Amino acid sequence: MTNTDMQINLTDNSRIHEVDFNDLQFGKIFSDHMFECHYEDGAWNKPEINPYGPIEVTPAMNALHYAQTVFEGMKAFYKDENTINIFRPEVHHQRFNNSCRRVCIPETSYEMFISALDNLIRLDHQWVPKKPGTALYIRPFIFASDDLLAARVSDKYSYYIITSPVGAYYKEGFKPVKLTTPNGYVRAVNGGTGEAKTGGNYAASFLPARKAQQNGYTQVLWLDAIENKYIEEVGTMNIHFLIGDTLVTPALTGSILPGVTRRSVIQLAREWGLNVEERRISIDEVFDAYDDGDLKEVFGSGTAAVVSPVGLIEHNGRTIRLDQDEPGEFTQRCYDEITGIQYGRIEDTHNWVHEVKI
Ligand SMILES: Cc1ncc(COP(=O)(O)O)c(C=O)c1O
Repeated sequence: MTNTDMQINLTDNSRIHEVDFNDLQFGKIFSDHMFECHYEDGAWNKPEINPYGPIEVTPAMNALHYAQTVFEGMKAFYKDENTINIFRPEVHHQRFNNSCRRVCIPETSYEMFISALDNLIRLDHQWVPKKPGTALYIRPFIFASDDLLAARVSDKYSYYIITSPVGAYYKEGFKPVKLTTPNGYVRAVNGGTGEAKTGGNYAASFLPARKAQQNGYTQVLWLDAIENKYIEEVGTMNIHFLIGDTLVTPALTGSILPGVTRRSVIQLAREWGLNVEERRISIDEVFDAYDDGDLKEVFGSGTAAVVSPVGLIEHNGRTIRLDQDEPGEFTQRCYDEITGIQYGRIEDTHNWVHEVKI
């Protein structure tokens, strides 16, 4: 897709001088431009880049009522004055299309996606923060835009990409998270929408997450919906266990979001010669490994934090205390390697990074 295939309307009122790059909060301010494309009569229209701003929807819009909507979350990193690195856009786009298929949203081409990102980042490259640990968060999303109060697949869709500079996740060192299994709630079930990044999954998780937080925990550790026994994932992260010298990660059985960071961690672990197992792992197995002294490290993985050490797990009145003020050696190694590749300090031998030349 060439630039001439995309209509670009520049803002004449940049807001960049309003931004305090020393105090960036997650997802609160948005760069000057956004990508937008609309679907009607069975096809995506000509894509556009427009000044960031409010969009008009009507009260009868499908997505507001029936949550026919999908999103992605990814990041771009400042490498040097000529280069911004986007981390694994192809895998994010594959997941975007997989999610769309699950909720009957028409797929989009990678060509349009990557040319939208190239254009947006070139135009708003000054919004990519430069300090260590900071990044430009990228939020592509599509929602059903039919104005019709009927619970059925929409004929019209709107596709946007907005970007937001975000601060370092770990400003004062790693903060180990405290997890609890939810009492009486499940996140997803096989055959449902758990492996799609669709809005309703998140709405459904808010109440159990709020209850966990009211009880002093950071996040919910989700168990499978049938037997309430097998570990699935955490809030907005996948989870990994280093048991002895084996990295055990819950298998993607259909109800877990296939994380891009998860996939990167597993690939690195294999290359580093660890035993790697993707399989069902029960909460009892984790407690047994802890009791036997074999549970070495537990950490979450996700775009926001890369890796997040787990300090405590509570389940039915029993507690695992890992007291990881410092991340374990393997967790730290994953963090250093992935962030090294993201910021271009480490050679990208896996072809994970898409460079945007500015
Ligand atoms: C439910 C859920 N699980 C896992 C993840 C981690 O995925 P990724 O590594 O692609 O950010 C996320 C974040 O996107 C998420 O929302």
